[in-house]
Formats: sequence, structure tokens, C-alpha cells
Amino acid sequence: MKKVALLTGITGQDGSYLSEYLLGKGYIVHGIKRKSSQFNTQLIDNIYQDPTIPNRNLILHYGDMTDSLSMTKIIKKIRPNEIYNLAAQSHVGVSFENPEYISNVNSLGTLRILESIRLLNLQKKCKFYQASTSEMFGDLVKKNLNEKSNFLPKSPYGVSKLYAYWITKVYRDSYNIFACNGILFNHESERRGETFVTRKITKGLAEIKVGKRKCLYVGNLNSKRDWGYAADYVKMQWKMLQKKKADDYVIATGKQISVREFINKSCNYLGIKIGWKEKGLKEFAIVKSIIDKNSNIKKGDIIIRVSKRYFRPNDVDNLLGDPSKAIKELNWKPLVSIDAIIKKMIDNDLKLL
Ligand code: NAP
Ligand code: GDD
Repeated sequence: MKKVALLTGITGQDGSYLSEYLLGKGYIVHGIKRKSSQFNTQLIDNIYQDPTIPNRNLILHYGDMTDSLSMTKIIKKIRPNEIYNLAAQSHVGVSFENPEYISNVNSLGTLRILESIRLLNLQKKCKFYQASTSEMFGDLVKKNLNEKSNFLPKSPYGVSKLYAYWITKVYRDSYNIFACNGILFNHESERRGETFVTRKITKGLAEIKVGKRKCLYVGNLNSKRDWGYAADYVKMQWKMLQKKKADDYVIATGKQISVREFINKSCNYLGIKIGWKEKGLKEFAIVKSIIDKNSNIKKGDIIIRVSKRYFRPNDVDNLLGDPSKAIKELNWKPLVSIDAIIKKMIDNDLKLL
């Protein structure tokens, strides 16, 4: 019998990679998508329309994390073996603008699924994966963040995800549900949403290179992140649910760079040498030389500026994970370096242009 998986957030970065991965493993994949005024299935259209994948292996349902009835109805109908709860309002900066909605989706949305599993008596049949996050840690501790580290979130997003993390543990301990938290550090890809800083930079610089844009405005350049590759990380989400015992795991690379270094590396890859001038909100990056003489950029162009608009009321400046437990128990090894991620993202953004 084929295994049946249900993915919330199937239209997002991780949802698209995980559904490909599960279909490749012979699963029947059900996904929940929101009704939107524009198409929101771009990231899964390739698999949805793939003639080699039978229609019945990838099935989409309309639903919403804020709507218990729709969620319970879908779970009752499908009776999945595995639920991957990837849906979230996932932008930390935006969470300061709509904290109530983000809590409803991220916190209560998770509770709604766990309650459905319990009320439908699926405890023995259905395993549950919760997309937890390094943002729950805050940045009081600067390195070696692992499963035993304390949490001190600094944003409504971080707080909403901490509720989801704990309720997942509570349902595991109270009702014997096989429920795991994957505490994932930042992971990026060609499919990363365009408002997250890495994609904003690779897309913005690609546009500058081809003359579609003059300058890119960003926020906190000093923030450091432990950036990995999304297609790599979703495999660990599946692996967690294949263990004998449900547990929580940190997935990270154990390496970090700053936003400024990410920009430097991206410029290097595009053959643009830049220098940084001034400090704080006045800081900017100026072109010192360019390798590609046909480029639209000239020496002396200012291509990056800092704007107050992209600062958060409170920012986590430093995230560095310690994935030792996952390395040992899940046979985890980060496979794609930050340079390789940048190359993949820029090549894709140039191709799209
Ligand atoms: P993403 O690209 O932003 O995708 C989020 C998904 O959630 C989208 O499919 C979105 O649908 C869906 N969604 C949002 N609100 C919803 C609602 N009310 N009802 C139903 N679906 C809703 O995020 P991602 O990067 O793939 O991340 C996947 C999960 O991992 C998220 O929970 C995120 O918080 C968590 N996480 C991500 C990272 C990372 O670095 N990427 C790290 C740690 C944890 P639409 O397409 O309609 O917007
Ligand atoms: N988005 C954005 N835009 N961030 C900027 C900018 C900008 O113009 N300039 C600087 N930054 C800084 C942010 O202040 C933050 O410190 C860092 O770059 C990374 O920001 P994001 O790419 O938005 O990611 P995030 O770390 O806040 O959140 C992502 O990772 C979390 C895991 O730690 C999201 O994917 C979350 O959903 C995820 O949980």
C-alpha cells in the first residue's frame, strides 16, 4: 500500500521540494492550498503537470490554517500516514505588522491539526511534523544552538512558532501522537520567496547587472545567519518521521555569514568588485571594478544602499546552529555550501530575467 502524506504549505518553498521528494519515494501526496486572487501554485505547477506523475498521486485541496472545519474535513477524508505542517505566515518582519493573524495561522493552526488527529482517533496511524525554527532561540546565545538551548524569541513570528513547538511536544507526551519538531535554521534556494533577504539580493543584483534596476535597498547588513539549502533540508523532515521514536532535531550547517558578506559573495560571482563606504543608515556599496565589460554597471555606481524601512523593531542578529544530534541520529550532512547556493540562486535569477 502506498503511503499517504498531507502537506500544509505545499505552495511554498519547502512544500514544493518536499512534495517532489515524497512523490519520488512513491507516496500519494495531498496538499492544502489557500484560495487567492492570483495563481499561487507556480512552485508546484511543474510536478502538477508532469505527465509521468499520475493525477491521483498529487491532489490539491482548498483549505486554510485559520479554518478548523476545512482542515478537519480534509484530514478526515484522507486519513494520512504523515502530516507535514509547513504552512505559516513565515516573514519575521511582516509579523510585527500583523501579529494577531500570524498567531492564528502559526500557533492555533498547528493546534487545529493536532486536535483533528486526536479527535479523529488517528494517533496510531498518523505521524506529525512541525516546521519549527531557529527564530525561537533569539540571539542571547551566539553559537552552538541545539535542542537543549533556551528559547528567547524576539518577534511575534518567533513567539507564534514557540507556541506551535510546545503544543506539538504536549500532544506527543499527553496523547502519544508521533509528533516531531524540526528546528530548522534558515534555508534558501531558487524557490525562496522574493522578500527574504537572500533572494532579494540575488534577484536585485541580477536585475542591476542586466540594467533593469540601478540600486538595491536593504536593512541590517550586520545580521548573521546559518544558511543552508532547502532541497537538502526537506529530506530531514521526512527522515525525522521515519525514526522509531518521535523526537526534535536541529537542522543547520554549523557555519554562518553576515548579510554584508552574502552581498560581497554575490557580487563576486557576478564579476562585480564593490567597496563599502560610510556607516549605519548612510552605508552604501560602490562599484570599484567590473570583469564583464558588456555589463550595464559602471565603476563608481552605487548599487546597494541601506534603508530604515527594512529594519525590524527588534532583530535577531546572530544565528548559528549545532546540528550534532541530527548528524549522529539522522545521518545528516549539509551537502550544499553557501557559495553553491549563491551560484544556484543567481543563475536562476539571471535565467528568469
Ligand atoms: P513559505 O515559502 O513562506 O511558504 C509558506 C506556505 O504557507 C505557503 O504555501 C503559504 O501559502 C502557506 N500559508 C500561509 N498562510 C496560510 C494559511 N492561512 N492557510 C494555509 N496556508 C497558508 O515558507 P517556507 O520557506 O517554505 O517554510 C516552510 C515552513 O518552515 C514555514 O512554516 C516556516 O515558518 C518554517 N521555517 C522556514 C525556514 C526557512 O528558512 N525557510 C526556517 C525555519 C522554519 P501561499 O502560497 O498561499 O502564501
Ligand atoms: N527580509 C529582509 N529584507 N531581511 C533583511 C533585509 C531586507 O531588505 N536587510 C537585512 N535583512 C536582515 C533581517 O533583518 C534579518 O536579520 C536577516 O537579514 C534575515 O532576514 P530574512 O531573510 O527575512 O530571514 P529571517 O532570518 O528573518 O527569517 C527566515 O528564517 C527563519 C529561520 O531562522 C524565515 O524563513 C523564517 O520563516 C524562518 O523561521
